[in-house]
Amino acid sequence: MRKILIATVKPFAPVAVKKITKIFDKAGYEVQLLEKYESKQELLDAIATAEAAIIRSDKFDQEVLNAGKNLKIIVRAGAGYDNVDLKTASDKGIVIMNTPGQNANAVAELAIGLAILGLREQFSGKPGGEMRNRTLGLHGFGFVARNVFRIARAMGMEVIVYTRYSKAAAAAIGLKVTNSLEKLYAKSDIVSIHVPARGEHLRSVGAEVLEHLKDGSILVNTARKEVVNEADLVKCMEDKPDIKYMSDLTPDCEAEFIEKFPGRFFFTPKKAGAQTAEANLNAGLAAAGQIVDFFERGDKTNQVNE
Ligand code: 3PG
Repeated sequence: MRKILIATVKPFAPVAVKKITKIFDKAGYEVQLLEKYESKQELLDAIATAEAAIIRSDKFDQEVLNAGKNLKIIVRAGAGYDNVDLKTASDKGIVIMNTPGQNANAVAELAIGLAILGLREQFSGKPGGEMRNRTLGLHGFGFVARNVFRIARAMGMEVIVYTRYSKAAAAAIGLKVTNSLEKLYAKSDIVSIHVPARGEHLRSVGAEVLEHLKDGSILVNTARKEVVNEADLVKCMEDKPDIKYMSDLTPDCEAEFIEKFPGRFFFTPKKAGAQTAEANLNAGLAAAGQIVDFFERGDKTNQVNE
């Protein structure tokens, strides 16, 4: 009997676990659930006999992949797979997949929520601002950004985008595509970051773009902390005392923010963008379906490694 491990430090909603298990029951696979684990050893022990795993932001480094002696496939139930050592996986012949778009609406709603929280001065009683008629700049145009666009447009916002790879898709739905990231940051009242933590995007939000931010603007990050150059962000917040940073990722320099920028930032206590029952169901069921399709039909759709 194939053994499938669901390894989630941050568990799925119970309804999602129930339905994922049902898919595997029907396929005749055995499910092992490892939730809220506190030590790496628990993961190393659990992965030892699994042929497949469903994970979220769980770190699958070389040690974990080596411990998974029977592993054939890992599906990251979500978008970003920067938590998985792709090279080791490829060397070992393990297929890595994600579930693109499945949790995108949840993350997009949080991005809008963080923007509103910033605009409304965190509901402190200080007069805030409204989304309508403000300019929202999308840094990147993947599934999350497309959902942010849909919501922002309905709120009466002007939306512009900087994208290298999806210009035609953006223009086709009536979005204004800017030709430089600097311009996007200069024109936006709110900038929402939607690029993955890999390649040219790592620390791409640095001094050269941050220096163009308008006074009073808000930077929203529901992507990854690694796409921001934190030292440059701190310097920008010092130089421009009206800038705010609202993030679903707590930066490494949190202590500096607490000391220097009270009232000008918010970090979710735990990464919360995709933590809705709907997103858990969409991503979890897609992941389970992909594993069954892989074993039963050799389907490798959504594979992200070579
Ligand atoms: C993603 O990459 O899909 C999101 O960042 C959600 O991550 P999570 O599954 O750890 O909440």
